[in-house]
Amino acid sequence: MNVIWKPQEKQAAFQARNEYEVLYGGAAGGGKSDALVAEALRQVHISHYKGIIFRKTIPQLRELITKSQKIYPAAFPKAVYNSTEHVWKFPSGARIYFGSMPNRDSYLNYQGLSFAFIGFDELTHFTQDEYEYLISRNRADGPGVRVYIRSTANPGGIGHAWVKQRFISPAPPNTPIRYKTQVRMPDGRVKTLERSRIFIPSSVFDNQALLENDPNYLTNLASLPEAKKNALLYGDWDSFSGQVFTEWKNHPENLDRKNTHVIKPFPIPRHWRRFRSFDYGYSRPFAVQWWAVDEQGVAYLYRQLYGCTNSPNTGLRLEPTAIAKAIRGIEESEEQGLCITGIADPAIWDESRGSAGTIINLFNEQGVYFEKGDNKRLPGKMQVHHRMAFDEKGYPMMYVFDTCREFIRTIPALVYDERKIEDVNTDCEDHDYDAMRYFFMYNPLPTKPEIIKKAEGFNPFSSDERR
Ligand SMILES: Nc1ncnc2c1ncn2[C@@H]1O[C@H](COP(=O)(O)OP(=O)(O)O)[C@@H](O)[C@H]1O
Ligand SMILES: [Mg+2]
Repeated sequence: MNVIWKPQEKQAAFQARNEYEVLYGGAAGGGKSDALVAEALRQVHISHYKGIIFRKTIPQLRELITKSQKIYPAAFPKAVYNSTEHVWKFPSGARIYFGSMPNRDSYLNYQGLSFAFIGFDELTHFTQDEYEYLISRNRADGPGVRVYIRSTANPGGIGHAWVKQRFISPAPPNTPIRYKTQVRMPDGRVKTLERSRIFIPSSVFDNQALLENDPNYLTNLASLPEAKKNALLYGDWDSFSGQVFTEWKNHPENLDRKNTHVIKPFPIPRHWRRFRSFDYGYSRPFAVQWWAVDEQGVAYLYRQLYGCTNSPNTGLRLEPTAIAKAIRGIEESEEQGLCITGIADPAIWDESRGSAGTIINLFNEQGVYFEKGDNKRLPGKMQVHHRMAFDEKGYPMMYVFDTCREFIRTIPALVYDERKIEDVNTDCEDHDYDAMRYFFMYNPLPTKPEIIKKAEGFNPFSSDERR
């Protein structure tokens, strides 16, 4: 028999799974993309089968298309590739597409389409919204087709946090994760549906073909800086190099408040200065933070109000007046008689936003006042690094009460922008980050030279071409 492509052991384990969602890989060079491209072929004998494989950008897609050009025509000599539409047509009529989502709303290009097989190569380059939207496009166009979704990923990238939360944290590797969702049926009954997902790890050590053909590749991975080496060679999801605030520590059990940013709540002395900082959002979440500052200038985030739905990075679509009323309600009951200085996203002073006057006017009408925040991004980021840094004794200049869950969830998940490599990627859930910046820039600390040097010299995307 003429064998065109044969899965190696881990690839075979990946391809044998019957869970609805599988994440494969978690490290570089394990044979992830090869396995995904081959997997898409499974049902091409069925005429109404449609599959699609995604990569974030079109240039990145070329690698996958090249792989398909090696495997597909060898297995199906009559298969034809259309390079303008990025689609393979098989003799049965089946199709395999290649897709990309370079922009924030690219996913809308797939509205109304359906695919029985969906593959995401490098899932951590995608947002959870994009992935979940495509799940809604995952269905069969006829009988007898299996409907499922497969992904590969390395740690790091804008989707690191949600991919880890979805596939890595809930269960040990190779262990199915079962989850339930509920639907209300037209007759009013609530039906519980079950699905499952699983993470199948592989690394370069599972790719004998690569180790033999290109022994230098292992050397390349082994000579990466520590955090990246741990992520890409060993598949360590706790040590990824795109994270912006690697100094962030969440140890509320450290009751001496050393080497932690998260602490247990305590009653705040009435004489400490109080601030409220605000990042506006409508279709994206809004963030309101209440900070207190002690006699030494240490800032404590003691309360937050975060306007999001259960979907990641999705706002409540609340009108400014409603947000203002919510703020006023909290302050009237919790902060009686205290003077609070408000600082907000300068964009809410823009004349062009909203027809009912500027957003700030709507807040003023409700008796909620703000001063204009400073949105200089890099100096703001430097202030955050500066306040997070621990002094010789282990004390930082900022703390967060452990009740501020959204802040604690979103700040460590921020990653660098691959294009503006010194800045935070604004596709992240960065609303608490922005509100924090406005506050820190209102009263900046003098920046220590060694912190500027450390942050500026760090380029998480250098030597990262080969994944
Ligand atoms: N089953 C296989 N048979 C032969 N070569 C393979 C196989 N799986 C992967 N390879 C080769 O190993 C190299 C790395 O595989 P790839 O799928 O690109 O890895 P990853 O996507 O995990 O970084 C590629 O050159 C690929 O062709
Ligand atoms: Mg790959």
